[in-house]
Amino acid sequence: MDFSVRAANLEDSKDIARMIMELAEYEKLADHVKITQKDLERDGFSKNPFFHVVITEVPEQHRTKEGHTKIGYAFYYYSYSSWKGRSIYMQDLYVMPEFRGKGVGKTLMSKVAQLALAAGCHQLNFTVADQNKPSMDFYLSQGCFDVTASLGYHYMCCEGKALEHLAQP
Ligand SMILES: CC(C)(COP(=O)(O)OP(=O)(O)OC[C@H]1O[C@@H](n2cnc3c(N)ncnc32)[C@H](O)[C@@H]1OP(=O)(O)O)[C@@H](O)C(=O)NCCC(=O)NCCS
Repeated sequence: MDFSVRAANLEDSKDIARMIMELAEYEKLADHVKITQKDLERDGFSKNPFFHVVITEVPEQHRTKEGHTKIGYAFYYYSYSSWKGRSIYMQDLYVMPEFRGKGVGKTLMSKVAQLALAAGCHQLNFTVADQNKPSMDFYLSQGCFDVTASLGYHYMCCEGKALEHLAQP
């Protein structure tokens, strides 16, 4: 199947917001999504972007029945490991169901890996839900390893009232 991968721009924000929601629905966690198209426009495509996206497009003849030609994305940002140095964190990797199994996911992840190496990064980090067995298998098939299993690390978060409380002097 013919497809292209490129850096996303401001005009892609609507499709990125749509696919973020599709991924959350796939993970049955859609009620956690608070982000809006406007947030993405402001935070991803202004002077100092907080994140970057690479997006996959198919030619018009392969558009979905809803008319979409943007059919997958990888969402990432640069981070830093106090052990390993420069790193990249891939927040999302998503391919619309009708386009899976055709090499799109691998191409997107490979693009992020290329960008990581070009920026001098030593690691590509990401999380995957326990119940998302197909994606876990996909990542394992790409040579990735499970940090929780090997080092016992858990991905933690502080938000809302706990974050405000923590921030009090
Ligand atoms: C995971 C996902 C991004 C993979 O994208 P894809 O386009 O379907 O995968 P590809 O066609 O590029 O597959 C690439 C390789 O991975 C392998 N692979 C894909 N799915 C696999 C699976 N479930 N188990 C084992 N290997 C798998 C393919 O066989 C292929 O291997 P090859 O290069 O040796 O032929 C896609 O299925 C997806 O969007 N899933 C739902 C959303 C999701 O779970 N995202 C990840 C959240 S953490």
